[in-house]
Amino acid sequence: MTMTELNATQTSGSPHRTLDLTLKIWRQAGPDAPGALETVDAPGISTEMSFLEMLDVVNERMVNAGEEPIAFDSDCREGICGMCSLMINGQPHGPEKGTATCQLHMRSFSNGDTITVEPWRSAAFPLVKDLVVDRSAFDRIIEAGGYISVSTGSAPDANEIPVPKVVSDTAFDAAACIGCGACVAACPNGAAQLFTAAKVAHLNLLPQGEPQRYARVEAMVDTMDGLFGSCSNHRECEAACPKEISVDFIALMNKDYLRAKFKNRRYVSRKP
Ligand code: SF4
Ligand code: FES
Repeated sequence: MTMTELNATQTSGSPHRTLDLTLKIWRQAGPDAPGALETVDAPGISTEMSFLEMLDVVNERMVNAGEEPIAFDSDCREGICGMCSLMINGQPHGPEKGTATCQLHMRSFSNGDTITVEPWRSAAFPLVKDLVVDRSAFDRIIEAGGYISVSTGSAPDANEIPVPKVVSDTAFDAAACIGCGACVAACPNGAAQLFTAAKVAHLNLLPQGEPQRYARVEAMVDTMDGLFGSCSNHRECEAACPKEISVDFIALMNKDYLRAKFKNRRYVSRKP
């Protein structure tokens, strides 16, 4: 029994069901190497394991057999960091609504299942290795405007900056975006509208973000447009998002962007 299998047994505290699975996993040695789905048998997988723990077990077995383990990303393993970006049976983050890959448990699958695991497929997220993609295109959008210029100093006294509860709740909903990229992977156009809208909204809705409201939205949307596809309202992004970010934020972003195009206009001299 591997360490991961032992931990799963100890945390459950009771005998639990196991699954015999067949994995079809995308293997690709590097960005320019040919890739293909590789069939890997995964017998005796506990239903108590998370999807990533299942991959850990498979990797431990592969290492013990002298094989190259599967490269995949993860960090927090509690739905916060957005690293665990996997296409599972053709769905970003797998079959459970509002659930990141690291929070998906093997009890969502049945004994004898074949599970296909692939990386995000988007031109803006080039493949690094196996299931790992480069999502730094998101960083370019954040760099364009995902900050505030005002000095926030130390923690202010309560009520010093009154913010209506509905506004702070909405900003918090937007701030729940973990930057995983499922919205882009799910979109037939490879658009990043939902991610960008969430990042714009969580700053633009609050007083601290107000001074750069229109500069921010224009810079972030223009950067997004240069890197990703265009939105045509399929709403696949909203359905795939593990944080259930609403497409309403896209409407808010579009409204601010339109205003920004007037407010940020520079008056050019017409003199010859
Ligand atoms: S909007 Fe949702 S799917 Fe897109 S990056 Fe943020 S959390 Fe992930
Ligand atoms: S590993 Fe951090 S969100 Fe899944």
